[in-house]
Amino acid sequence: MAPVEAEQHPRSALALAAHDASGRLSPIRISRRDTGDDDVAIQILYCGICHSDLHTVKNEWKNANYPVVPGHEIAGLITEVGKNVKKFNVGDKVGVGCMVNTCQSCESCEEGHENYCSNIIFTYNSHDRDGTVTYGGYSDMVVVNERFVIQFPDGMPLDKGAPLLCAGITVYNPMKYHGLNEPGKHIGVVGLGGLGHVAVKFAKAFGMRVTVISTSPEKREEAMETLGADAFVVSSDANQMKAVKGTMHGILNTASASMSMYSYLALLKPHGKMILLGLPEKPLQISAFSLVAGGKTLAGSCMGSIRDTQEMMDFAAKHGLTADIELIGTEEVNEAMERLAKGEVRYRFVIDVGNTLSAASLASSPVPAL
Ligand SMILES: NC(=O)c1ccc[n+]([C@@H]2O[C@H](COP(=O)([O-])OP(=O)(O)OC[C@H]3O[C@@H](n4cnc5c(N)ncnc54)[C@H](OP(=O)(O)O)[C@@H]3O)[C@@H](O)[C@H]2O)c1
Ligand SMILES: [Zn+2]
Ligand SMILES: [Zn+2]
Repeated sequence: MAPVEAEQHPRSALALAAHDASGRLSPIRISRRDTGDDDVAIQILYCGICHSDLHTVKNEWKNANYPVVPGHEIAGLITEVGKNVKKFNVGDKVGVGCMVNTCQSCESCEEGHENYCSNIIFTYNSHDRDGTVTYGGYSDMVVVNERFVIQFPDGMPLDKGAPLLCAGITVYNPMKYHGLNEPGKHIGVVGLGGLGHVAVKFAKAFGMRVTVISTSPEKREEAMETLGADAFVVSSDANQMKAVKGTMHGILNTASASMSMYSYLALLKPHGKMILLGLPEKPLQISAFSLVAGGKTLAGSCMGSIRDTQEMMDFAAKHGLTADIELIGTEEVNEAMERLAKGEVRYRFVIDVGNTLSAASLASSPVPAL
């Protein structure tokens, strides 16, 4: 399809916003910027619900800029391209993850690790270059600089692929950069939620041995039979933990709540690495002895670069790897947030934005504008 020159006016979009720390989401009209020369406009069809959305709307990280429109697992179709846009055409299936811009000139940006740019602009709850607050994907459209847009590979479904744009890259990145993607190595995954379940799938696709370490005994069967984990350990069961002590080359820790690290670090082999991905608001409890004895490493990792995100999507498409999702309508989003807080999701909620967030679907209730 031939590129269409962008219309030059800001436009109103429908969105779901939280207005205070209750985190309750309700429809609102927001304003999106013009489609600039380097931008694409995207009609959002699906958006995953990440636990970071929940932390943010409830102001657990004490950084909410209300009203917050969350959502950084965005999948949809390009509806407009700016005149300098090279990578995309109208009609392309695309995604947007956790960031929508960076400084593009610092060391991290120049090395291709722009996810660590100190001037990163996150997809929502962040200050854009024009000073406005960014609004995420619980919305019917978004305008994004083409550099921060991911092409959906052939065969990758938009709904089940959307969660890969945050959950997928967040687990793929540390596996790649910490050598935890080598066949035969043993990896532990702490927390079988949105991040954890795709971590199991990537680890199996890399040919690794995977053990899930969970607080939820009822997830055992699914973890092993559906997701393909080799073993499942309940973290509160000292005997089960002892059986895998000192066996793991690495652990991806996706727990969303604070924990004592002692029994988890004991599962690593000497020189083993635990990579923190979860972002609980409270500090973790850790003893120096847990790391020093055994020469272990504790590291953190934050999502991934655009280049690595595209690589991850292409790898996932090649291996038929997608997220296990529960598709919900916008009217179910508050209930979904409550269920996510209780760990009652198998394994990612995805909002069917395309079919349930439209002026027609919201006609019965007035939608306030910002
Ligand atoms: N680093 C990054 O770039 C990045 C990116 C995305 C998300 N995050 C963060 O990663 C965390 C997980 O996100 P998610 O979307 O995967 O959340 P999620 O779907 O809610 O999964 C989190 C899992 O953590 C486990 N868990 C909960 N409380 C726990 C506790 N007290 N002790 C041990 N495990 C516990 C549960 O698994 P079990 O039932 O199996 O125990 C739960 O399913 C969140 O804090 C999120 O903000 C970070
Ligand atoms: Zn996320
Ligand atoms: Zn930078």
